Amino acid sequence: MKKIGLFYGTTTGKTKKVAELIKKEFGEKSVDVFDIKHIKPEDILNYDNIIFGTSAWGIGDMQDDWEIFIDKVVDLDMKGKIIALYGLGDQKEYPGSFADALGTLYCRMHVKDQIVGAISTNGYNYYFSSAELDGKFVGLVIDEDFQPEKTAERVKKWVTQLQKEFK
Ligand SMILES: Cc1cc2nc3c(=O)[nH]c(=O)nc-3n(C[C@H](O)[C@H](O)[C@H](O)COP(=O)(O)O)c2cc1C
Repeated sequence: MKKIGLFYGTTTGKTKKVAELIKKEFGEKSVDVFDIKHIKPEDILNYDNIIFGTSAWGIGDMQDDWEIFIDKVVDLDMKGKIIALYGLGDQKEYPGSFADALGTLYCRMHVKDQIVGAISTNGYNYYFSSAELDGKFVGLVIDEDFQPEKTAERVKKWVTQLQKEFK
């Protein structure tokens, strides 16, 4: 498998924590991790396997840094790239916009047929999420606020899945 570039935006550090867990699970040398606050969008093009991570703020908004960054990302030439997305949210406090930033991120991508990593919605309790499509989440969903005990297992399962779906 080719090296993975993981690009996250975080406000209180939880999306970063999950980025580090993902890296650890793949193996330290397999993933380069970047905070989007400190890079140029073109840096993404150094990788063929790409992971984007965002938390949800406001009512379903993407994390602040993503709100600006995304406009440049969607203009990049993503030909030949495989992309996986993950999103953090809080199903207890925001059950009507749970992990919606992941849904927005997915929505903004022009290359939907190159997106992998969809997972089952089983085990989450909410009543609306724009990250849900055809009965699945469009990427990994993590709830560090209400279900932190499930994070390690969810990351592990997702990484096993991506090891087959990445190139
Ligand atoms: C003001 C505020 C608004 C939030 N809005 C949402 C939301 O609409 N949907 C959701 O699922 N989570 C929401 N959350 C929960 C965060 O997404 C969650 O705490 C996340 O883990 C934060 O990650 P970060 O520290 O990487 O930014 C909100 C949290 C706060 C404090």
